[in-house]
Amino acid sequence: MILAGQSPSGGYVACPSFPNYRYSWLRDGCFVADAMREAGEVESCDRFLDWCARIVLRSPDGPFDARYTLEGRPDPTGWPHRQIDGWGLFLGTVRRRGSARWDEPAAHVTRWLEQVWGEPSVDWWEERTGLHAVTLWCVGNGLQSEEIRREALARAHDRLDASLLFIGRPELVSWVEGSLVSPGGGVWRHLDDEYYGGGEWLLLTAMLGLAKPERARECLTWIEAHATHDGDLPEQSRDHLLRPERYEPWVEKWGPPPSPLLWSHAMYLRLHHALRDRR
Ligand code: BGC
Repeated sequence: MILAGQSPSGGYVACPSFPNYRYSWLRDGCFVADAMREAGEVESCDRFLDWCARIVLRSPDGPFDARYTLEGRPDPTGWPHRQIDGWGLFLGTVRRRGSARWDEPAAHVTRWLEQVWGEPSVDWWEERTGLHAVTLWCVGNGLQSEEIRREALARAHDRLDASLLFIGRPELVSWVEGSLVSPGGGVWRHLDDEYYGGGEWLLLTAMLGLAKPERARECLTWIEAHATHDGDLPEQSRDHLLRPERYEPWVEKWGPPPSPLLWSHAMYLRLHHALRDRR
């Protein structure tokens, strides 16, 4: 699914069948590229990093956007462009890949993030502008900055959001588990979620399993149970919607919900790898 969703230019489509997701997001793409490298598909990871490098080298001083067309051109829609977490993730993906091939674009991205990390950015869910814990965490990790990571942790209690699972601190994981895990075992984004009724997200359920090894097997099984009969992993499940009345209005607006979502496939792989490596 992931290889089929990678364009010849190297960009990963967020979802091949959902018109509004026919872009390549830095955030989704870096999680996907890491999963592919772990799966031994190093060339796929490299092609994505080359796609990122071409974007950076075209205008090395930035600003850099949250998503681009698969050809690496700016997204012309009005969707929020300033989401710096993806570029922090890019630096981590480059570092884990362990090759000097992307040193130049990484140096430009580093310089840019050092300038802008304290400015408002839009959150992982493209809903709120401000200084968000997980965004700062991604940037702090990318820049290997204790100062920025401390700032992320200082903001972690500002708002209950399942993206905190990515930070992985036990107290944050417990907070999310206390209110954002549905009776079925899937993970909601946040309690105000109304996007397609606010279902449980497969990629967040994988993040719960990654953050809490004792739940890893249960989370993997939950994700498998929410694949379509063709094995596609959707963005979210409809089993326990927070606001069921908001499901149809989104279908009328944008069509059926995104499936398959490459980021869901990537997080499933990463959870699978974590369980495999534990044996
Ligand atoms: C999510 C983003 C994601 C994008 C593409 C949006 O609905 O809020 O986090 O990057 O979809 O998958």
